[in-house]
Amino acid sequence: MLNSLVYSRLYDWYEKNHRVLPWRETTDGYAIWLSEIILQQTRVAQGMEYYLRFIDRWPTVEDLARANEEEVLREWQGLGYYSRARNLHKAAQIIAGRGKDQGESIFPRTFEALQALPGVGEYTAGAIASFAYNQPYPAMDGNVYRVVARLMDIDEPFDTTAGKKLFRREIEELLDRNNPRLFNSAIMEFGALYCTPVLGEACASCPMKDICLGYAHGTAELLPVRKPRPKVRDRWLDYHVYVQGSLYTLIQRRENPKDIWYHLYEFPCEERSEKPEEKENLKTVHLVHILSHQRIHARFFVHPVETLPAIEGTKVIRWEDLNDYALSRLTLRAIESLCV
Ligand code: ADE
Repeated sequence: MLNSLVYSRLYDWYEKNHRVLPWRETTDGYAIWLSEIILQQTRVAQGMEYYLRFIDRWPTVEDLARANEEEVLREWQGLGYYSRARNLHKAAQIIAGRGKDQGESIFPRTFEALQALPGVGEYTAGAIASFAYNQPYPAMDGNVYRVVARLMDIDEPFDTTAGKKLFRREIEELLDRNNPRLFNSAIMEFGALYCTPVLGEACASCPMKDICLGYAHGTAELLPVRKPRPKVRDRWLDYHVYVQGSLYTLIQRRENPKDIWYHLYEFPCEERSEKPEEKENLKTVHLVHILSHQRIHARFFVHPVETLPAIEGTKVIRWEDLNDYALSRLTLRAIESLCV
């Protein structure tokens, strides 16, 4: 494939169609890293709100390093997958700690040093290296896999070890080494806005249609291919929402680092090993909560009480202070259902 043709079509499209986004207006590695970690969790519109809040509250990596973990989790609340937030914080502390010896902290500037940070894999390291420092590394997110799979008609799954290697080779060949920042931004944006999973009529007026093998072979919409999804595990969690005089309640923190929602707060929880018999009371809220590999069947039993029971590991708090704690998204959903 003639790379120069891809570049001219892609850049021309990008110039006319790209979104103006705050992390594209900066070359600060810290800001770009933050945006990339947030954008792995959510779409641009919601990611923008989080990004602006984070960067406003912690404008430098030293500021983020000085925050405590709880504050960071609290700010992350609603995005889910809290290990990303914990890694963000941990990495900030590593970077700021190194800086102390040197008199100032220096955000890593090489792909290898970036990839050595907790929570930074090949994609994120490539994104920071190219967007911040214009270094020639690909940034293969889902959008880029889709565009490359279609452009070259690759029907190998992109999420296997072998598939990743194949795609990496292809994108290394295609990458514009004279302008990796522009190339990565443009191909990512083209995938996000134009070459979308459902194509509709897009191919007919696509600026790349005369050089797209997927279009030529009629396979574009079927690509990219994924490996079969892993099985989802069902779990049954019963929560007890004790309410004393509408004022106080009990919460507890999850303490198993290998389990979901590590260090997040929730109502006292009992896990069942299998689907429980239905036992109803007037105010039971049932919620099904889907995570990447687990389907949580949660029941929230409301217990109005005169005196809160003494349950080990729980903490008495005012109901109105619930928002001061980093809560799992399931707990937030339950609170919303209980309060209406
Ligand atoms: N998704 C992931 N990274 C992005 C970026 N830099 N711009 C827009 N969307 C993205």
